[in-house]
Amino acid sequence: MANKCEFRELPDLNKARNRTQSFSFDYEGVTYPDSLVKYLNGKTYFIHTYGCQANYRDEEVMAGMFEHMGMSKASGIENADVVVLNTCAVRENAEQKVFGMIGELKKYKTTDNSRVFCVCGCMVQQKHIIEFITEKFKHIDLIFGTHNITSLPSMLDEVIRKRIRLVDVESSPTKIEENLPSKRLSSFKAFINISYGCDKFCTYCIVPYTRGKERSRLMKDILEEAQELKNLGYQEVTLLGQNVNAYGKDLKDGSTFAKLLEEVAKIGIPRVRFLTSHPWDFTEEIVDVIAKYDNVMKYIHLPVQSGSSEILRLMGRRYDAEKYLKLVDMIRSKVPDVALSTDIIVGFPNETYEQFLETVELCKKVQYDSAFTFIYSPRNGTPAAKIKDNVSSKDKSIRFRELVKALEVGISEKSNAMVGNTYKVLVEGVSEKNPEMMSGYTEKNKLVHFKGDPSLVGKIVSVKITESHTYSLIGELVNE
Ligand code: 5AD
Ligand code: SF4
Repeated sequence: MANKCEFRELPDLNKARNRTQSFSFDYEGVTYPDSLVKYLNGKTYFIHTYGCQANYRDEEVMAGMFEHMGMSKASGIENADVVVLNTCAVRENAEQKVFGMIGELKKYKTTDNSRVFCVCGCMVQQKHIIEFITEKFKHIDLIFGTHNITSLPSMLDEVIRKRIRLVDVESSPTKIEENLPSKRLSSFKAFINISYGCDKFCTYCIVPYTRGKERSRLMKDILEEAQELKNLGYQEVTLLGQNVNAYGKDLKDGSTFAKLLEEVAKIGIPRVRFLTSHPWDFTEEIVDVIAKYDNVMKYIHLPVQSGSSEILRLMGRRYDAEKYLKLVDMIRSKVPDVALSTDIIVGFPNETYEQFLETVELCKKVQYDSAFTFIYSPRNGTPAAKIKDNVSSKDKSIRFRELVKALEVGISEKSNAMVGNTYKVLVEGVSEKNPEMMSGYTEKNKLVHFKGDPSLVGKIVSVKITESHTYSLIGELVNE
């Protein structure tokens, strides 16, 4: 029989929308109950992460807690004592994948309840999802939210000691927590959170509800983390936030993203990246810093979402197509060789074919180096989900394919132009398709495969491009 389920706190989208509370900085770190450490020491964990970089960074923090308790990472879900599914809610297909995996987990549940299955992340910030999971999937022992990750040890302790199922999901954050443990996924490239949450409330997006109010870490704490990574020999850091350009606005101590980026650049890590930029807060000062420092990568992810000003207005994006193009011009005037990538949503409710064509037109004007394209997915509780939509899903798919094709023309041209030139590549690992090849990324984030040996992993090498494909390049190592 399934254990009794205790509901401690359930998320509430209205509470998440109307968050008013201020938050404080907490330097206490994580508390580990003795009984739990004794029980878990020597056991194994496995975290399966879906979604964006913020979730991967959360995985690192959770892994840090498990390792602190003497646990090690299992080779897979099937042989882990504690399993965590770290979920994403940004589109419905992300959620479907998670439900599939939750179903899979059932066959690994042991009758003696010795294995613990947890679900966390953005998906469970939604009450209807929790109701569904607790009702349908009684083999899930613990559900916790994005704002109470650091209570994981105490929650696990209760689940194990009291033999209960537990749901504890706070609606909105009250703290910025520092001094968290961390087991980094890579030994040469790292994410650094600079801010959490989002206040933009684009009408289609669930993130402001699941990740809470926009709140910036203090500059000193970010710089300390960057310096530590530099000391450890990291080759690349990515400054992370849903909207990095808004960094510091809430702190009211004069901190801005431009200042932060400059200070991080000065630390001297070979590659500094940042993600994601909202066109609204992109100032000239930021662009000047990108231009000034060689180690700030000349690559900007600048989501446009649509090329139609009317759709952008309905999306609540706070800019129109003209403003976006002006921003691109300003960036290119200061950083002529900049590479730009974007996110685009096709089939926002009632988007006309003409409005869709405006997106294709904008893409042709900007000439993106890469693009992430999505079909609009209604998200429960967002304003756009209430709009009655007159576009069929078949038409949305046709538009989606048309856009991808148009984008590929421009992207291929850029890749072709790289043939014959030599680029610096940070080597990530052995190619997934061919064990003789190594794979890595150029400064402008192009994927390159080349013949080499695994001793190069984590190093920046020079590779001459010999062949181009749309989404990757083939090259040969240049001996310097
Ligand atoms: N439907 C489709 N795509 C979405 N995105 C965010 N919300 C939705 C949604 N409801 C996309 C946006 C965003 C990216 C991370 O995901 O393009 O930039
Ligand atoms: Fe979502 Fe818009 Fe915030 Fe990006 S800026 S996370 S799309 S609400």
